[in-house]
Amino acid sequence: MELLILNIKELVQTREKASAYNWVAGDRMGEVPSIKNAFLYLKSGLIESYGLMAEAPTIDCKVIDATNKLVLPTFVDSHTHLVFAASREEEFVDKIKGMSYADIAKKGGGILNSAKKLQQTSEENLYQFALKRVDEIIGFGTACVEIKSGYGLTVEDELKMLRVAKRIAKETPLTVKTTFLGAHAIPKEYTNRKDYIDLVINEMLPKVAEEKLADYIDVFCEKGFFTPEETERVILAGESFGLKGKIHANQLNISGGVQVGVKTNSLSVDHLESMGQEEIDSLLGSNTMPTLLPGAAFFLRTSYPPARQMIAAGLPVALATDYNPGSAPSGSMPFMLSLACVNMRMTPQEAINAATMNSAYAMDSLNTHGSITKGKAGSVIITKDIPSVDYIPYAFNSNSIDSVIIDGEVMNL
Ligand code: NIG
Ligand code: FE
Repeated sequence: MELLILNIKELVQTREKASAYNWVAGDRMGEVPSIKNAFLYLKSGLIESYGLMAEAPTIDCKVIDATNKLVLPTFVDSHTHLVFAASREEEFVDKIKGMSYADIAKKGGGILNSAKKLQQTSEENLYQFALKRVDEIIGFGTACVEIKSGYGLTVEDELKMLRVAKRIAKETPLTVKTTFLGAHAIPKEYTNRKDYIDLVINEMLPKVAEEKLADYIDVFCEKGFFTPEETERVILAGESFGLKGKIHANQLNISGGVQVGVKTNSLSVDHLESMGQEEIDSLLGSNTMPTLLPGAAFFLRTSYPPARQMIAAGLPVALATDYNPGSAPSGSMPFMLSLACVNMRMTPQEAINAATMNSAYAMDSLNTHGSITKGKAGSVIITKDIPSVDYIPYAFNSNSIDSVIIDGEVMNL
């Protein structure tokens, strides 16, 4: 399959050589390279060439005219829980009436509520429910996504979730990486928390590894969930099976999770609503991507991560949705860009780098996604007739996306 996109008003996030395969940090986050009046040629699902319209090849193949439209790489959503059994709008109402996320968790809601529902749902139904979300996020311009377990909390149900995620990888257009999050919450029946952590490490993890169900390992490092010591123990156990860490850290409190992430050379530490200078300093010089999930801060009305301070310190930041039924029931990357700009004062350029290059780094996908680069996936967003990239986060509830192409195929939206 060949596809030629012509007369592109602006081809955004064009990167060659070294800069296509490294994260973007500090001041450089403010720069998104682009070509005005451009063409893009996709072949065999990959980016074959691109450049100025004047240099466009003449090829007898399907042509899309992108006059007045922008083209950018599809979004990379490096943190989701998009396999779940049911929504939790009753907790939403409880929160409106004054309960906190922690109160809800204490009363058996939250993650344990989702686990109960997931345990009662068949693998086939879970897959069918997730497919709707897959279609939804493709419409939002996402082509590469990370999916976590963590609502199973038994050996069988954790495996079930990961099998569903793997089936999404196989049967849908999305590129998927999977993360084992057995250490998401301690089920009620465990009076001794160590027994559950032992189950995660000694029973779940070997099976997850044996069936090759996960790329990464995650722990919810948070007061009331898992301590930094427990987090480190689980992450190191994951590493012994070749799974790198991606840690839920500092969502509700300064948890020590950032430091554990850096110490274990984890791929990312995610959330970071609570950050001090010490946490920022610990990330400097590390290989760990700080990943911000503004949808969760918005929905839970917590403070937002200090993105400006982090970027000023020279760090990179990535953006992801955290799509889940409890703290972030939206898989919209364009809305994350708006939240990043409005509430974290990131510029649109910083937000785009965070949602493409840096989120691709955070799920080890920079070799295939995150930029318009020869040889990377032919996965792009064609916008509507909009004035500039800044318009995408600015018009926060308009759909700026005209079409989505994944691996060279035009999606039916
Ligand atoms: O990333 N923080 C932990 N896990 C999810 C939410 C879990 C839930 O409430 O279902 C999150 O916010
Ligand atoms: Fe999460």
